[in-house]
Amino acid sequence: MLSFLFKKKENIKPDLSFIGVDMHSHLLPGLDDGLQTMEDTLLFMERLQQLGYRKLICTPHILSDLYPNSPGTILPRLDEVKKAVAARGLAIEVAAGAEYMVDMEMENYLRDKKQMLSFGNKNVLIEMSYLAESPNIEQVIFEMRMQGYQPILAHPERYNFYHQRFEQYQRFIDLGCLMQVNLLSLLGYYGKPIKMVAEKLARNKMIDLLGTDMHHEKHLAALEELATRKEFYTLAEGLDIKNSKLFGSL
Ligand SMILES: [Fe+2]
Repeated sequence: MLSFLFKKKENIKPDLSFIGVDMHSHLLPGLDDGLQTMEDTLLFMERLQQLGYRKLICTPHILSDLYPNSPGTILPRLDEVKKAVAARGLAIEVAAGAEYMVDMEMENYLRDKKQMLSFGNKNVLIEMSYLAESPNIEQVIFEMRMQGYQPILAHPERYNFYHQRFEQYQRFIDLGCLMQVNLLSLLGYYGKPIKMVAEKLARNKMIDLLGTDMHHEKHLAALEELATRKEFYTLAEGLDIKNSKLFGSL
């Protein structure tokens, strides 16, 4: 027996029930670069339920001409999914918000006081391009707060342009943003620098929410892998994750 020569990998039974509610995913079919068929939506939801999720808040992209979504495209699709989930006999709650790209169009929504697609108590998920900071990001956050919205910054760790300006993360918190880190960043799925920044945010207690940002099979397989890693649960224990508290069933 040479097994003692090999480092034993400590894998444990997946249980993400301490997160309970996912509030960032692209599981509604056919609306963006996420899932495309209802069958995939049902299969993914079943596997997420097996991982311990009780509720999934799906957040399709709203991104000008590329993904021109609105409550008018998202809410009817949510209804279809809810019916299909019930018909399949899945015991998982499904809801929807959106992931708004902070661009000129979003600034115009706010200026025109158009109602944004929120979840929970007027929470709205916002994102930027990975290539460059949105020049109006702070103005948009300020305006959202003025209109009673709770902005949630999606995957702050993935904005490489902040990696050498770590103080900007505290600035977002001071402006009243909640911070949502992607679970897969903690696995290293998006690369080492992003993993390191996610871990630094964790060490500094700057993470409010963990999201799957689920788009496709590779993401789901990676999440299932993360959910067997003991070190992930150790890191998560040190966080004050608010997914269930803020968005659990009421
Ligand atoms: Fe996303």
